[in-house]
Amino acid sequence: MKINVNGEEREVDVPEDVPVLWVLRDELGLKGTKFSCGKALCGACTVHVDGKARRSCVLPAGAVAGKRIDTIEGLADGDRLHVVQRAWIEHNVAQCGYCQSGQIMSAVALLEATPDPTDDQIDSAMSANLCRCGTYPRIRAAIKRAAALMAAEGDK
Ligand code: FES
Ligand code: FES
Repeated sequence: MKINVNGEEREVDVPEDVPVLWVLRDELGLKGTKFSCGKALCGACTVHVDGKARRSCVLPAGAVAGKRIDTIEGLADGDRLHVVQRAWIEHNVAQCGYCQSGQIMSAVALLEATPDPTDDQIDSAMSANLCRCGTYPRIRAAIKRAAALMAAEGDK
């Protein structure tokens, strides 16, 4: 089947019920998207499908044929990091780092839909992305910083 990953047309030969997570990691070598629970419970595997945050561990490949998938590898524009990535670095968000690509993908989806989110909107949008290291306060601060940068610079 054909899928568009980070703006590139890719052809993969996989059964339709294989989760997108394994297509990305094993077929396409995109290891930034992580496997953790495998049951749509933790958010480590979050990618965007047509701009919406989705759990790739439970999303069958057949459901994304012809759709656009964006992963953490596609966020930066060459050497220029996405504004959310830069805010993440500024706030030193990551601890072990394992959950962070999923956190960032959810944060980007939130800010694309809601450029100036309230604390409640942040908590609601991010509540399904778990972090065993407890980086939640820094995640919230980085999302607010990214929102401020976007407003100030028209940046993204
Ligand atoms: S690995 Fe997909 S939600 Fe946990
Ligand atoms: S940074 Fe370690 S699980 Fe989130």
